Amino acid sequence: MEESENYFTKPLNLFEYEQQAQKCLSPMVWDYYASGAWDEITLRDNHAAFDRIKLRPRVLVDVSDRHLTTTILDQPLQMPLLIAPMAFQCLAHPEGELATAKAASSAGVGMVLSTLSTKSLEEVAQIYYSNYSQTPNPPLWFQLYIHRDRNLTRALIERAYTAGYQALCVTVDAPVLGKRERDTRNQFTLPPGLQLANLVTISGLNIPDQEGESGLFTYFAQQLDPSVTWRDLEWLQSISPLPLAIKGILRGDDAVRAVECGAKVIIVSNHGGRQLDGAIASFDALAEIVKAVDGRAEVIVDGGIRRGTDIIKALALGAKAIMVGRPVLWGLAVDRQAGVNHVIEILHNELDLAMALSGCAKLEDIDSSLLVLGN
Ligand code: FNR
Ligand code: LAC
Repeated sequence: MEESENYFTKPLNLFEYEQQAQKCLSPMVWDYYASGAWDEITLRDNHAAFDRIKLRPRVLVDVSDRHLTTTILDQPLQMPLLIAPMAFQCLAHPEGELATAKAASSAGVGMVLSTLSTKSLEEVAQIYYSNYSQTPNPPLWFQLYIHRDRNLTRALIERAYTAGYQALCVTVDAPVLGKRERDTRNQFTLPPGLQLANLVTISGLNIPDQEGESGLFTYFAQQLDPSVTWRDLEWLQSISPLPLAIKGILRGDDAVRAVECGAKVIIVSNHGGRQLDGAIASFDALAEIVKAVDGRAEVIVDGGIRRGTDIIKALALGAKAIMVGRPVLWGLAVDRQAGVNHVIEILHNELDLAMALSGCAKLEDIDSSLLVLGN
């Protein structure tokens, strides 16, 4: 953001970041970031699900001293927030994932780096840990897409471990890519100069240019393995030195199965409405999954979280932390690292204020009695 950008035009909330970001991005990039699959029903419903649930604030509680800190897998978080894995962040700003990592690390929140990042996992880890000379530090996790080439998949895990990532976030809702029609129309691909930083050096893989189709859709069809099952998860568990967080669970029975395979974290997610359109809003799936998991793993939820009150509602249903996706890209597009830091700060301040107004001085005070739940 320019110096001349004044107090009055600085975004006040995450929706205003979205509006400003659209002005900073090319139509192809905006469409890729903003899109959901098909009719975008799930994309819209992700946020609407939070609006449907109302709060029952408690009054006359001493909220003069408030605490937003927590842990995930025993690692500290300044607030219950991790940045969701998102591909191709250099499309928002040339510093891409490095700016995001600096913001997350300086704010003391978690970050999950996508397999499909445009900066290498080693560079990102180095930047993230530069703020931390000692452990414990906030979590930096690596998101894994299981490629058909299992040696490549294994090499990614080994590199992530060596670079200091502390968990492996295995995304299980994308055996094939959902159809984002705007990307098909735009024949989405990476512009010259950007590449799959984790893959190009070891395998030469990159996003193809494809007539009449999104290059990413084609990449998934060619390189990712749609035959992956629970047996592959057992294989990953057996070879991974890192704990597994399974991302993309929307049913209690699948959550139980993931826990039985050894998962330490369940991430309730529909991929930001980008995979199966018509899928349940992730917030609506949360209660069933928390109940099924029954404390055997920590639960994270993402999708449509845009306000501090959304975070309260997710924690009230039993999530240990939440992840935010697109708003981080909006912050990056508008004002690189400072924009991401501001997005995090807005969420922090909103959560803090919403806790005070709900009668909660600390996160442990947030429970399901705060919500008006149907029968
Ligand atoms: C994603 N998401 C995603 N998930 C994943 O596991 N690996 C990935 O590489 C990506 N890439 C990606 C790119 C873009 C542009 C978006 C918007 C999303 C899904 C992401 O991790 C998360 O589940 C959703 O973005 C959460 O929803 P909100 O916060 O964007 O509504
Ligand atoms: C996406 C993939 C890369 O949602 O996860 O675009």
